[in-house]
Amino acid sequence: MPALTFTERLRLEPIEPRHADDLHTVLTDPAVAEWYGEWTREASAAEAARIAGGWRRDGVHKWMAYERASGECVGRGGLSRATVDGRERLEVGWALRGRFHGRGYATEIGRAGCDLAFGELGAREVVSFTEVGNLRSRAVMERLGFAYTKDILVGGEPFALYVLDT
Ligand SMILES: CC(C)(COP(=O)(O)OP(=O)(O)OC[C@H]1O[C@@H](n2cnc3c(N)ncnc32)[C@H](O)[C@@H]1OP(=O)(O)O)[C@@H](O)C(=O)NCCC(=O)NCCS
Repeated sequence: MPALTFTERLRLEPIEPRHADDLHTVLTDPAVAEWYGEWTREASAAEAARIAGGWRRDGVHKWMAYERASGECVGRGGLSRATVDGRERLEVGWALRGRFHGRGYATEIGRAGCDLAFGELGAREVVSFTEVGNLRSRAVMERLGFAYTKDILVGGEPFALYVLDT
């Protein structure tokens, strides 16, 4: 069973099938749906199962993030293995419910993902990518020290690829 991770303000739980309802709450939040599209309950449950499978297969995947002070679910994010720009890489990402924007929580999740990558996993680089127009996500990457590398096509759409090296 993968470990819980605690940051200053968040409890990060490896996503399992039991997180399906909380994941659905995040994915159907209007601020998230703007970028991630529409999710049925069944699709969110399948996504939770897919991520749980990633934890079993790769030993790492996305977390659900809970505010330590209130216990509320704030979003999901973290590190996963993905083929990006033709190579298997460690990718970090984040998605927060709208009312938790503007508090640095995405940056806190991203930092925890990078610490895991460069610490325990001994990685030499972490990548992150987002739609070119997703300026809030790009700002998180820049706050974490990622450097813009180039635009890539994901599903035929242009995404901005950022890299953080050791
Ligand atoms: C992308 C997303 C996670 C960014 O959220 P965010 O709240 O802007 O980012 P952070 O949580 O890092 O918060 C940063 C903001 O909090 C402020 N902040 C307050 N306390 C802070 C702290 N302790 N540390 C860092 N920033 C802090 C920063 O100044 C910044 O404010 P600003 O937006 O006015 O410049 C959010 O917009 C989102 O969930 N979007 C929908 C899903 C999505 O697009 N995900 C990415 C797909 S690739």
